[in-house]
Amino acid sequence: MPKEQCSIITIFGGSGDLARRKLYPSLYQLFRRGVLGEHFAVIGTARRPWTNEFYREIVAGSLENEPNTSADAVQRFASHFYYQSHDVTDADHYVTLKNLSNKLDEQYGAGGNRLFYMAMAPRFFGTIASHIRSEKLLSPSGYNRLIIEKPFGRDFASAKELNDSIGAAFNEDQIYRIDHYLGKEMVQGLLALRFTNPLLTPIWNKDYISDVQITLSENVGVEERAGYYETAGALRDMVQNHIMQLIAYVAMRQPDTFTPEAVHAAKNELFANLPVLTPEQAKRDWVRGQYVAAGDQPAYREEDGVASDSQIETYVAGRIMLSDSRWAGVPFYVRTGKRMPRKATEISINFKPLEHNIFDAVGCNEARSNRLTVFVEPEQGYTLTLNGKTMGSEYALRQDPLSFRYPQDKIDEAPEAYERLIQDALMGDQTNFTRWQEQDATWKYVDVVRQAWDDDAPLATYAAGSHGPAEADQLLERDGFKWAEEFD
Ligand SMILES: NC(=O)c1ccc[n+]([C@@H]2O[C@H](COP(=O)([O-])OP(=O)(O)OC[C@H]3O[C@@H](n4cnc5c(N)ncnc54)[C@H](OP(=O)(O)O)[C@@H]3O)[C@@H](O)[C@H]2O)c1
Repeated sequence: MPKEQCSIITIFGGSGDLARRKLYPSLYQLFRRGVLGEHFAVIGTARRPWTNEFYREIVAGSLENEPNTSADAVQRFASHFYYQSHDVTDADHYVTLKNLSNKLDEQYGAGGNRLFYMAMAPRFFGTIASHIRSEKLLSPSGYNRLIIEKPFGRDFASAKELNDSIGAAFNEDQIYRIDHYLGKEMVQGLLALRFTNPLLTPIWNKDYISDVQITLSENVGVEERAGYYETAGALRDMVQNHIMQLIAYVAMRQPDTFTPEAVHAAKNELFANLPVLTPEQAKRDWVRGQYVAAGDQPAYREEDGVASDSQIETYVAGRIMLSDSRWAGVPFYVRTGKRMPRKATEISINFKPLEHNIFDAVGCNEARSNRLTVFVEPEQGYTLTLNGKTMGSEYALRQDPLSFRYPQDKIDEAPEAYERLIQDALMGDQTNFTRWQEQDATWKYVDVVRQAWDDDAPLATYAAGSHGPAEADQLLERDGFKWAEEFD
């Protein structure tokens, strides 16, 4: 058993939704695959007064829909779990937590390693970090790592305050900021596609690419998250984090090697090329929208927990022009929304058209620009469209898709994003987590858009179940483009 995989894992928010839906199933799969052996224990903490036995039943219950379970494996797994009733604002309770950690470390031979997981409302993150330090929960012998959930702040000022507070207890190389999109197979696969194909690598720039489009659409509405969503909106919820991270993976230069340091260096350079927008540019290049009732689907303002005059955007589309010479003049169009026709995450790389088509002279002018589409989810794979000849004696052109999709059984077997990310944190690999500089740059960019909207910008509307507001189409039409038809 590699020493790195021995650990005392403390989950703050051990009774919460994230822990039950994502963390326990992911830890189980790591246990089943032998990534977690016998030298680990999990301490779940929250205020409610549960016993260890009850907590283990909750953990076992969270695995009901997991593949590859057996009663014996679940029981062995759950026996590693301990519950500590704890109010994170109460300093004394951290002493109890420390004593339990030390006891379990000895019992399980965890080698002094500590992984802290903040699966609670962000307003508690700073308090927890400062108590971890002041009550000396950090282990002097093994590693100390902190996994922290999104949202990482709600603007630059609050993100900085949060970062300073966790920075008082943990160094940057001990902090694992979750953006679960970085744990997705095809997001990780994008780097392989870009950097191992001599066919693609030399043409991945402004000379050959006309525009890039990124779509993150959801078909659901706000569901039970109205309380959070009413204070966030799509710009904060999806653009500052997931969409910006996807842009980085599409546009960053090739890292020198595939190490966390080299990947983050390339990302930082890219984010340094996010332009500083004026309010006028922000209003011109960003569209916000909110869904209104259509058919049997209610309006956002009619959803439970939503104010009847809410100005929160459920849809965002934007155009980002990077100030990087490799991408000069190439618009990155992004969009994300709720109550769209379907759930999909797709990235389209649209290549420039032919400068001279020899077939034009014979009236054969159907040649189109090539397009590479990366399907992140629910389909996983990619399609490259090429022009070819239609079969027969006439000379006509048509578009042929060269497609690869992972089969569904492989997708079902593959580790889920949280499973990959927790494994990475256990192994000490920060590649797929975000660094402070990335948060800094992306919040500063997004804050300008938010401010411009707050000052004065229309809130467009779109029918629930539609592709979004007409203003989002006009954003592209203005430049002579349109949204990739794969999505339509
Ligand atoms: N749920 C998701 O799918 C999801 C997805 C992405 C990100 N996240 C992020 O993950 C974090 C957790 O979300 P969640 O949905 O799991 O929230 P949640 O279901 O509301 O859980 C909150 C947890 O915090 C505990 N808690 C609250 N106040 C406490 C206190 N003073 N002292 C100790 N424990 C306290 C609660 O237990 P007690 O009431 O027993 O104290 C509960 O275990 C948030 O940052 C959220 O943004 C969640």
